[in-house]
Amino acid sequence: MRTEILWNNDWLFSPAQLPFDAPDSAFEAVTLPHTNKLFPHHNFDNAEYQFISTYRKRFSLPEPRNGRRVFVDFEGAMLVSTVYLNGKQVGVNAGGYTPFSFDVTDYLNDGENVLTVHLDSTERADVPPFGYVVDYLTFGGIYRDVHLRYVEAVSISNAHIKPQNVLTPSPVVELDVYLVNSGAQPATLELHAEIYNAQAEPDAPAFTYNSISVNIDAKSSSKVTLLLACSQPQLWTLANPALYALRLQLHAADGTLVDAPAERRFGFREAYFADDGFYLNGERVQLRGLNRHQTYPYIGAAAPARLQQQDADILKYELGCNIVRTSHYPQSHYFLDRCDEIGLLVFEEIPGWQHIGDNDWQAISLRDVRAMITRDWNHPSIIVWGVRINESWDNDEFYTRTNALAHELDPTRQTTGVRFFIESSFLEDVFSFNDFSNGIAEPKHTPHLVTEYNGHMFPTKTFDGEERKIEHARRHAHVQNMAYGNPRVSGAIGWCAFDYNTHKEFGSGDRICYHGVMDIFRLPKWAAAVYASQQDPTERVVLETATLWTMGDRAEGGNDPLMVLSNVEEIDVWFGEQHLGRFLPDHETYPHLPHPPFKVTGLGMMMMWGQAFGTLRVEGFIGGEKVIEQQISSDGVPRELRVSADFDTLYADGADMTPVKVRFTDEFGNVLPYAMQPVTFELEGDAAELIGENPLLPPGGQAVVYLKATHTRGTVTLTAKTARFEPLRVTVEVI
Ligand code: GAL
Repeated sequence: MRTEILWNNDWLFSPAQLPFDAPDSAFEAVTLPHTNKLFPHHNFDNAEYQFISTYRKRFSLPEPRNGRRVFVDFEGAMLVSTVYLNGKQVGVNAGGYTPFSFDVTDYLNDGENVLTVHLDSTERADVPPFGYVVDYLTFGGIYRDVHLRYVEAVSISNAHIKPQNVLTPSPVVELDVYLVNSGAQPATLELHAEIYNAQAEPDAPAFTYNSISVNIDAKSSSKVTLLLACSQPQLWTLANPALYALRLQLHAADGTLVDAPAERRFGFREAYFADDGFYLNGERVQLRGLNRHQTYPYIGAAAPARLQQQDADILKYELGCNIVRTSHYPQSHYFLDRCDEIGLLVFEEIPGWQHIGDNDWQAISLRDVRAMITRDWNHPSIIVWGVRINESWDNDEFYTRTNALAHELDPTRQTTGVRFFIESSFLEDVFSFNDFSNGIAEPKHTPHLVTEYNGHMFPTKTFDGEERKIEHARRHAHVQNMAYGNPRVSGAIGWCAFDYNTHKEFGSGDRICYHGVMDIFRLPKWAAAVYASQQDPTERVVLETATLWTMGDRAEGGNDPLMVLSNVEEIDVWFGEQHLGRFLPDHETYPHLPHPPFKVTGLGMMMMWGQAFGTLRVEGFIGGEKVIEQQISSDGVPRELRVSADFDTLYADGADMTPVKVRFTDEFGNVLPYAMQPVTFELEGDAAELIGENPLLPPGGQAVVYLKATHTRGTVTLTAKTARFEPLRVTVEVI
């Protein structure tokens, strides 16, 4: 029988390439996911994580082998891993974004074993995405999970679950199961497949099942196909993303259970790009989304499951997106699993950025196509594969191969590839275009999807002046409005969700690309509310007034006109106790947006330079009823420091983390972006450590530090001290 063990604990790490006989004292103890270096949130040089490091793990097999093969499975390590067991090389993997696995059976000792990884985190020109500069950072480290896996000579290596005819009353799941026989004998086995409703109790009866007898030759692999008839499954939709789970069992002729891998989830949905847009389950869905890089402040890409899941939640619930593009590489399965669970569509693509390397480089890229698709083909959230290097020039020979491989591996999904010139040859099923025209160019080919806009055209910081931040929001609203207005455009995915650390060739001088609608800490700029306010108000009522409500931030002073980003029907605007008027959404400027911003004018007389100045109140109405209100102080004095942990309970696994948000606000909770006052933290308890700058100067009046669980259970208290406020405490339980 198979055993799979999460193998993230008890690693040793050195930021140097150490020989096998280096003493353990030359290393520090670490837990995965791990970054090879911690950083401040900006102002650092990416050369500082570009080195060869050594990871070491001493172990005895946690259970006897009993004739089974033993594998070490890496979900992701940046960038080239050379893996040794007991001083002998077992394999090399080049590439930081896709999983790799080594059969270590023949290298194992009876007693203690030593696994070593020499991890080259330099920007090696022979490995995608490198060969030229890229606009993001590829932080080093074994930054995703590792597993130890035992399997019998014959085992299940993968399964591709392909629901067919899902819009009929009786869909069928066509199931391809991949088997491996590493043994010297042919084998005859019985393969049993059961499908469950993933939300049902664990012992609920199967939704459907089927069995097949399989013969597999010695030293070979094979694919067997089963059909499972399904009656009226619940569809996977954006509002109700019903998930089903496949359980597989492989039995020997005598009935012994040979393999039972972890269940795989999937959904019944039909996703298709047509000339007139994208269809989910037969209904046209206008795609409205943002790009996501997988990097975070301080920790690079080494974010645990909880933070990965939270990013998906932010995109769906806080930003109201229905699609995310995993720019520019396959991302954590925790992120994708969460997209499946909450109904957030995904565009996933192979690693790369503008540059195409030589034949060997292209071979790695083809390997990436395979690794991405065979890892992720069961995610219902993924609707299209990106099989071109983002924004490269045409290379029809290469892209004919990436495209054909994707179709061969996964005939159920369309392919695409992102380009920056509209004359590019169209080899895939969907033409994806980064449209930096500050509008929406007329499609040359359909289906047409806009995969980037804005970004470097208008970088905007949380601490920029009001006019720039309003213009940033306006541009996002404008492009979305145009995308909604052109039925030949399937949708538009903006650049980007979150600010990110980058190379000096890009970015704002502190090596951040301030291209996000949220900052690097995942805290909003006003442009975030452009997206959030396109949600149906039954999901969430949004009202964000894009103003600092000061007399002197704009050129020539005042606040006229005001932009209010909201999905209510009407707003009332009050200046102190004075009613300025009732306003409707600006359908004239944004005729196609589901919820256009409001333009509030007529403030002129109240906003004379140096005149008495009071609180702004904006009230939102739906069906004549007041549903939301925002008040903004005219004081310009921080009245509160808000410190809050997003999660008050963590797991004591040495990896789990919660963001702790720090915000200087007015008395109504509005962040004051110029309140950049030092915050000093003190941590009591050994159940967590503080990750982040300390003291912290919150840029834009808002920032995040993290609490990261150790392996010790208990309570930790983080105290935030400032010159102005009483110390504030947050408590987190580590269980
Ligand atoms: C695009 C590129 C993105 C990002 C963006 C900035 O050209 O694909 O990765 O650099 O520009 O606007």
